[in-house]
Amino acid sequence: MSKQRVLTGITTTGTPHLGNYVGAIRPAIAASQEESNQSFYFLADYHALIKCQDPEQVHQSTLEIAATWLALGLNTDNVVFYRQSDITEIPELTWLLTCQTAKGLMNRAHAYKAAVDSNRDDGQDSDFGITMGLYSYPILMAADILMFNANKVPVGKDQIQHIEMARDIGARFNHHYGEHFVLPEAVVDENVSVLQGLDGRKMSKSYGNTIPLFLPEKQLKKHINKIKTNLLEPGEPKDPDTSTVFQIWQAFAASEQTAEMRKAFEEGIAWGEAKKQLFELINGQIGEARERYNELLANPAQIEVELEKGAHKAREYSRPFLAKLREAVGIRKIG
Ligand code: TRP
Repeated sequence: MSKQRVLTGITTTGTPHLGNYVGAIRPAIAASQEESNQSFYFLADYHALIKCQDPEQVHQSTLEIAATWLALGLNTDNVVFYRQSDITEIPELTWLLTCQTAKGLMNRAHAYKAAVDSNRDDGQDSDFGITMGLYSYPILMAADILMFNANKVPVGKDQIQHIEMARDIGARFNHHYGEHFVLPEAVVDENVSVLQGLDGRKMSKSYGNTIPLFLPEKQLKKHINKIKTNLLEPGEPKDPDTSTVFQIWQAFAASEQTAEMRKAFEEGIAWGEAKKQLFELINGQIGEARERYNELLANPAQIEVELEKGAHKAREYSRPFLAKLREAVGIRKIG
């Protein structure tokens, strides 16, 4: 059986937090270790420019995210790990696809529609603050995916529409110019947990309720202590199923440990004690990676070497493929 090509992009904004780790990074690293997969993981820094126009932040976040994945044990001999902007064929393909993309399709993109709706709600012009980058975002994403003929694209639910658009765009190109692209499928893993943040809502940078993944130990402890609980005293039974402490515990613990903690809740474990145990559990699992992370941040040239190695591997696919696509659309040498 030929390998399934699995591809996913990580937008380089913000600092990775426990929710990113549990929901995306940990499962992606596990999937990359499966023999039946050939994985392509990349830093979507062109996508970052849509959301963030602060050059220092874009750069810092690219560095931190690359260091995070490497520190957590991504094996770059098995995985093609690269930076989107190193693959110059991607923006070229974006244009070829743009010319096959119905404007009406882009009008229906959730992220764009949400921006228009919020302008209307504010009584603004509907185009206020909306760049062509935001509007065309799904085409760049389609190019990321179609460039490497990915079969499977692991994403969060909010991204399913983008994968469907990539299929639509790829199919239209195929219909017009011949079968060049594999049509990708979104893979949404229902088993990975969506972590709750400090306030009990979904952990997300936009809510300001995150626990950054590689905080120094003391800070990690402090953050965990800030997780919202109720006023039940030690000895009073507590409901694990409505507790953020328990929910995060579950995302890190083995099933026996989860069963033990459930029992401890029913027996009235003190919040302080539950949080102390949660800190120890998480710290035990990420402590070594945190050391590697700090080493990498102190030696960013090592990260650059990895990314250049990845770009080299990726371009072995993208360069000849784009040459073929240019030929297909009639962009050819004369004579
Ligand atoms: N847009 C995706 C996100 O915000 C990131 C991304 C960019 C991506 N290109 C991709 C994901 C290609 C999967 C495939 O999460």
